Amino acid sequence: MLFTWGALIQALLMLLVKASQRSFRDVSNCELNQKQQSDLNSFLWTIKRDPPSYFFGTIHVPYTRVWDFIPDNSKKAFQESSIVYFELDLTDPYTISALTSCQLLPQGENLQDVLPRDIYRRLKRHLDYVKLMMPSWMTPDQRGKGLYADYLFNAIAGNWERKRPVWVMLMVNSLTEADIKTRGVPVLDLYLAQEAERMRKRTGAVEKVEEQCHPLNGLNFSQVIFALNQTLLQQESLREGSVQVPYTTEDLIKHYNCGDLNSIIFNHETSQVPNFNNITLPPNEQITAQEIDSYFRQELIYKRNERMGKRVKALLEENPDKTFFFAFGAGHFLGNNTVIDVLRSQGYEVEHTPAGQPVSSGRSPKSPTIPLHAPYSTGQELEPSPPPGALPP
Ligand SMILES: *[C@@H]1O[C@H](CO)[C@@H](O)[C@H](O)[C@H]1NC(C)=O
Ligand SMILES: *[C@@H]1O[C@H](CO)[C@@H](O)[C@H](O)[C@H]1NC(C)=O
Ligand SMILES: *[C@@H]1O[C@H](CO)[C@@H](O)[C@H](O)[C@H]1NC(C)=O
Ligand SMILES: *[C@@H]1O[C@H](CO)[C@@H](O)[C@H](O)[C@H]1NC(C)=O
Repeated sequence: MLFTWGALIQALLMLLVKASQRSFRDVSNCELNQKQQSDLNSFLWTIKRDPPSYFFGTIHVPYTRVWDFIPDNSKKAFQESSIVYFELDLTDPYTISALTSCQLLPQGENLQDVLPRDIYRRLKRHLDYVKLMMPSWMTPDQRGKGLYADYLFNAIAGNWERKRPVWVMLMVNSLTEADIKTRGVPVLDLYLAQEAERMRKRTGAVEKVEEQCHPLNGLNFSQVIFALNQTLLQQESLREGSVQVPYTTEDLIKHYNCGDLNSIIFNHETSQVPNFNNITLPPNEQITAQEIDSYFRQELIYKRNERMGKRVKALLEENPDKTFFFAFGAGHFLGNNTVIDVLRSQGYEVEHTPAGQPVSSGRSPKSPTIPLHAPYSTGQELEPSPPPGALPP
């Protein structure tokens, strides 16, 4: 139940999308039973070489909600790849604990000391409300799995007074009824990581926890307070029933399943931070919103795409005879300055691979597999390896 980078980017993107005037809500329903394999979405790209490697765009929602919409060729590419790389190694307890501690305020500081009094009070009131409502938000299915409201609340929000404001803001965004209902099933990226382990594939990560955490902590104080204030204003309106949920995980799932590569939230051009209540922001707040947006694009998308692309290239060069499956958040493959663009600029041919198009089964192995070099990954830095049964909830 901890925040991972994928969740974070997704939450931020949702914040940005909320501000958009685009019609994200009128996505036509993608009924699976009316679909042929060839009609399905595809978040698969092939890196042309012999054997090929793959990029796959994941999403941070329960895998059961999207799995049936993922084309067979994407699944085959995953199965046939001997090495699977993620943004971060989510199955490594070190990753999780490093992410957790990165979210904390410096030793001895407390949110109450840091936040404007009004914001702190509203935050506390809102979290009290969430705690009260949580039992009624949970589904019978979740209860059947032994998930308890108190446990869930504590897992997500337990230590909130010690978190940095930006993480509290993201936490508040994920504490909605709709999001709570999705808890308890592994999200797609985590599921793939678990499957890769189960299938004894070599796994690794292209980023270090620190590389992910620092940019977010780099949003300055007034920007964070602005975003937290807007988030609280939105939640308060929801509580009063004066606005509808403006954007939910459900919409995101629909977009992913409908596979609208152009309109998907990850590739949003006119983004501006939240105009949550659909009230025009005063000019100075609009500027703050735009500054957050451009900071976000630059630091959390473009710079990371550049770094991820370079590491992908290094991995491919170190292992010319291996088939890689790089499973990163879909947002890294859509829009400007994507990871794909980085690879192309390095001379690689990368093609979108629609559903129904056969994926090459790769070169047949010439010789028995020889042990590989140490992976270019955070694997080393992230020692020790997980004790059995230590997977995050
Ligand atoms: C935060 O950043 C913005 C834009 O760079 C700047 O205008 C503002 O003064 C900064 N605020 C603080 C508290 O540093
Ligand atoms: C929160 O936002 C509202 C509306 O934009 C504004 O009037 C208020 O001053 C803000 N509060 C803080 C503490 O920034
Ligand atoms: C992508 O780049 C084009 C051209 O520079 C620009 O007009 C557009 O706004 C950019 N899109 C995003 C999502 O930044
Ligand atoms: C937001 O405002 C615009 C115009 O001001 C309106 O067309 C739109 O329907 C509003 N959206 C919501 C969700 O209320």
